[in-house]
Amino acid sequence: MVPSIAPSLLAADFARLGEEVATVEPYVDMLHIDVMDGHFVPNLAIGLPVVASLRRVTQLPLDCHLMTTNPDAYLEEFASAGANLLSVHIEAVPDPTKVASRVRGLGMRFGLVLNPPTPFAGVAPFLELADLLLVMSVNPGFGGQEFLPEVLTKVREAREWVESRGLSTDIQIDGGITPVTARRAREAGANVFVAGTAIFKAPDPVAAIRELRSAIETE
Ligand code: DX5
Ligand code: ZN
Repeated sequence: MVPSIAPSLLAADFARLGEEVATVEPYVDMLHIDVMDGHFVPNLAIGLPVVASLRRVTQLPLDCHLMTTNPDAYLEEFASAGANLLSVHIEAVPDPTKVASRVRGLGMRFGLVLNPPTPFAGVAPFLELADLLLVMSVNPGFGGQEFLPEVLTKVREAREWVESRGLSTDIQIDGGITPVTARRAREAGANVFVAGTAIFKAPDPVAAIRELRSAIETE
């Protein structure tokens, strides 16, 4: 289980997005793109034209986290824009069976997301349909919030579930990730770490990535 780092572009300087991506690109495993509709979450962020522009400047996998009420309305559009992983919230799509097979049919990986108050049992029956489970460690909508340690119980449950069934589902954590919280999430069983503020608001983003990397790679 090799840990991966996914910088969240929400914390980047959008006027210099290409430069921000070029700075982190050699040191990270994918780019995390927060899509918000002002309805599922009380904020608006990053839409399809930005995904398509990013596709032209990077080879990194584009991990699109859809915080939208109707994610199934835009699957083809995300595939055409160059997304590699589409994650949808179980709170928005309580039975993700169809959306999972459509996403995979379009050649993308499929992710399921759990908000902090949603129990693991909500996604457990659908885990075999997913390539990744994203356990939110803040209430979604904004960067720069405090990590909620109570979600670590769900990360542990998810890791046990995945291991005991021989699944290869990635377990991603998103929200308030710093070297300290990443380490705790790693110990609980997460293997994909999203970090926005800790990377892009750091005086030296590359040094910040190195610190994160060493926090999750040391046993
Ligand atoms: C929150 C987003 C996160 C956010 C994380 O709704 O899903 O991806 O950018 O930001 P930080 O790392 O600042 O908590
Ligand atoms: Zn996110």
